[in-house]
Parts: sequence; C-alpha cells; structure tokens
Amino acid sequence: MRVLITGVAGFLGSHLADRFLADGHDVVGMDNFVTGSPDNIAHLTGHQRFAFFEHNVTNFIYVAGPLDGVLHFASPASPRDYLELPIQTLKVGSLGTHKALGLAKAKGARFLLASTSEVYGDPLVHPQPEAYWGNVNPVGPRGVYDEAKRFAEAITMAYHRYHGLDTRIVRIFNTYGPRMRPHDGRVVSNFIVQALKGEPITVYGEGAQTRSFCYVDDLVDGIVRLFLRGGNEPTNVGNPREFTVLELAKIVIRLTGSRSQIVREPLPEDDPKVRQPDIARARAQLGWEAKVPLEEGLARTIEYFRGKPA
Ligand SMILES: NC(=O)c1ccc[n+]([C@@H]2O[C@H](COP(=O)([O-])OP(=O)(O)OC[C@H]3O[C@@H](n4cnc5c(N)ncnc54)[C@H](O)[C@@H]3O)[C@@H](O)[C@H]2O)c1
Repeated sequence: MRVLITGVAGFLGSHLADRFLADGHDVVGMDNFVTGSPDNIAHLTGHQRFAFFEHNVTNFIYVAGPLDGVLHFASPASPRDYLELPIQTLKVGSLGTHKALGLAKAKGARFLLASTSEVYGDPLVHPQPEAYWGNVNPVGPRGVYDEAKRFAEAITMAYHRYHGLDTRIVRIFNTYGPRMRPHDGRVVSNFIVQALKGEPITVYGEGAQTRSFCYVDDLVDGIVRLFLRGGNEPTNVGNPREFTVLELAKIVIRLTGSRSQIVREPLPEDDPKVRQPDIARARAQLGWEAKVPLEEGLARTIEYFRGKPA
C-alpha cells in the first residue's frame, strides 16, 4: 500500500507513519510545521519507503503516482494551539479536509479523517457513544476546533454518500506519549514538564473533571484496524478508563519523584467536565481496546521528556 499522511510531523502523524512503514507500506508525508516539528520525522530521513513534502494542505494538494489511502491528521490539536491559531484551525478542518478528500477521490484511495472527542463538546451523555450528537458552543473560544472537526465529519460523510468514497472517521480521545510537545498546554505534557522542573502543578478548578488517557501505540493500533477493516460511520478510539485530573497530577508526581506542589487555577471557559469514550463499536467491529496501563504509558512518556531540554 502507498498512503498519504497529512500532519505527519505532528505527534500522532509521526507515530502513524512509523507504524505504516513498519508494516511494510510506503508513506508520503505532508506538513507545514505550524505545530509539528522536523524532529518528529528526522529518523525517517533517507528511509526508502518514506517521502516528505512541506505543504499547507489548506491549499490544493498534488501527489504524483498512485495512492491507496489518505489519512488526514493535519490540524492544530491542543487547546493552546487552536486558541492561538483560530483561523488556520478552521481552514485546515474545512478547506484542508476538502482538499484531502478531493485527492482521495481523484486517486480512488480510502480516506480516514482524524476527528476528535471534542465533537461531543461538554457532553450531556456519559460515556459518549458515537450516536450522541454533542453539546458544542459554536461561538465559544473552542468552537474553532470543535466546529472545524464537525464540518470535517460532515463533508467526509458527504463524499462517502454522494461520491461513493470509502471513508473512515476516527473520533480520537485524549492521547499521550513520546513526541507530545512540552508546552502544548495538554494536561499530560503540562504535568510532566512541571513535575520534572519541580514547578507547581496547575490543576484547573478542583481537579475533579475527568479525562481518559490513551497511550499512543494503542491509539495507532486502533486507527490502523479502523482504516483496514472498519465501517464508514464514526468510531470512537480511546481508553475508557477514567481518571480525575487531580489523580493524574498525583501519579505524575509519584512517577517522576518530584517535589512539586499542586496549585489550583480557575477553570477555563467551555472546559469539558467529563470525557470518556464508549468504545462498544471499536470492540465489536475492530476487536480493539486499549492495553497499555496509564502508569506504564506515563513512565515511557516521562522517559522521553527527561531526554528533552524543556
Ligand atoms: N493528540 C490527541 O490527543 C488528539 C485527540 C483528538 C484528535 N486529534 C487529532 O489528531 C490529529 C493530530 O493531532 P496531534 O496531537 O498529532 O497534533 P500535532 O499538532 O502534534 O500535529 C498536527 C500536525 O498537523 C500539521 N498541520 C497543521 N495544519 C496544517 C496545514 N494546514 N497543512 C499541513 N500541515 C498542517 C502540524 O504542523 C502538525 O505537524 C489532529 O487532526 C487532531 O485534531 C488528536
């Protein structure tokens, strides 16, 4: 197989490229480095089955030769990034998805959209099954990301229904692991960086809001299964094991052996209070569930951050 991965220099895109290459496939990677880094794909330089093109996928995408798959991962993804890059986020979710779909259609390739649990917004149903339509504030600060992804899902289904394109939509829940950026504002990287520096660990509100954390290798395995043999309807992929943010802070402090204290700050606007995937569909259709326990995944992630200048 030969696949295009947009956002390949990002956290998830780079792991996905590693997996496709390890499985013997050819990978064409594309990125404009707006939030990604050449470091994430530096180890692939010179790889015979990997080619990279620096390109903003909001603009027309040209790839020479055949493609069997287009996996659209390009998008600012952490709250800090999309709040700083609101227009780019809306453009890559809308125009970028349109361009990636057009390429898949032209090549007769299967298309997979990296969507997000944020399409459920601040959910009124818990845990969230795919059939839940969500509770999103379109005009709140986070609307730029949530609505871009909701549009991306809508146009993906339109290409499936009206053009007969073979499409997949993965709704990714919080994922963590090596190659997260140290200062991207996500809770796992925030806590690890703060703990390693011995700085206060900032917990928003009482820290009672829950999150479920999926280790990146598990997530990539779910995505590959979905791509190869999943259905066209959206599929949640994430770890249903729920932790409060406060529990996470305490585990990180223990695993790093840090002396950091936990401090509280006000809750940001539209911060979801609960978030947990219902993965019945992924279990039934893909035989998938997360395997790596939080402490093991965190230990691997902490090891990665220890090796990086913060
Ligand atoms: N990490 C998570 O927990 C998570 C959760 C839900 C959804 N997702 C989705 O997965 C995808 C990847 O997320 P990530 O965590 O790897 O984020 P990331 O920021 O590390 O990677 C995104 C990559 O896309 C690139 N990019 C952004 N806009 C682009 C454009 N216009 N043209 C070309 N490249 C562009 C960035 O430079 C970056 O390399 C995103 O679509 C995100 O919405 C991630």
